[in-house]
Amino acid sequence: MDENFYHLPVMLNEIDQYLITKDTGYYVDCTFGGGGHSLYLLNKYNGIKIIAFDQDTDSLKRFNENPELQKFKDRIIFCHDNFRNIEKNLNKLNIPKVNGLLADLGVSSKQLDDKTRGFSFNSDDVLDMRMNKEQELTAYTVVNTFSKENLQDIFFKYGEESFSKQIAQKIVEERVKGNIKTCNQLKDIVCKVKWAKGKINPATKIFQALRIYVNDELGSLQEMLNSISNVLDTGARAAILTYHSLEDRIVKQTFKDAKNLKIINKKVIIATEKEMKENPRSRSAKLRVVEKEL
Ligand SMILES: C[S@@+](CC[C@H](N)C(=O)[O-])C[C@H]1O[C@@H](n2cnc3c(N)ncnc32)[C@H](O)[C@@H]1O
Repeated sequence: MDENFYHLPVMLNEIDQYLITKDTGYYVDCTFGGGGHSLYLLNKYNGIKIIAFDQDTDSLKRFNENPELQKFKDRIIFCHDNFRNIEKNLNKLNIPKVNGLLADLGVSSKQLDDKTRGFSFNSDDVLDMRMNKEQELTAYTVVNTFSKENLQDIFFKYGEESFSKQIAQKIVEERVKGNIKTCNQLKDIVCKVKWAKGKINPATKIFQALRIYVNDELGSLQEMLNSISNVLDTGARAAILTYHSLEDRIVKQTFKDAKNLKIINKKVIIATEKEMKENPRSRSAKLRVVEKEL
């Protein structure tokens, strides 16, 4: 793979079609990553500017060093922060209302592939899983120091793992022999309790649960969603791309409960078959869109 490759953006056409209601003004990209979505919109609409959030310094580095993105440096304001702080940042910038907001949740391909980040179960990477490298809590700390009950709870709540109790028990037994350092070590421990069914790795749900917990992904998402009606101008839209049912449930429920947000797509939007073939990541993507009412 090209070492400059960062991430292939998902549902570009659908994001363009549903998000853009005005071809001028500020749009927020809550999850800048490699800038794929932002770049597409900036190229297509000369009059728009992007306020880009990402909590990962690698994304900021990419913005500062990638010549394609630097061409747009006067039209991108980068906020190296968690998107849960969106209102605080917009107020600081003196841009309290925007013409649209996009969030493309989860981790980027770059984060998954990077050997130093410890996200991927088929690797000898040290367990880490922090999107924000300045944060203290890592997956290593969780796996090696949390109680059996706590681990079981995390695996059940954030992985919906039916073997949560047995896997937590096994981890606690194994770590007595020495700390569980790498992703492969953890995967092997899970595989002692749970056998593979089909192509899906038995440790998938455990890795998902740890990642969600370490990054407080659902807490950040809920706070960002709660800010949407405050930051959107009337008639502006928010488009949220989710990749698993826990995220999608929160987005669906929050949009349903919101008083001044109109749901644009009653039926969730998914990628075309063509895109699913070309970009496997798009297979689990679900897009929900709302519009700010008066
Ligand atoms: C799926 S990638 C986005 C890819 C991007 N749309 C592109 O086309 O390159 C998600 C990005 O959002 C960032 N991210 C996830 N949760 C975040 C949060 N709560 N606050 C800020 N950034 C977050 C991750 O660090 C990652 O870079």
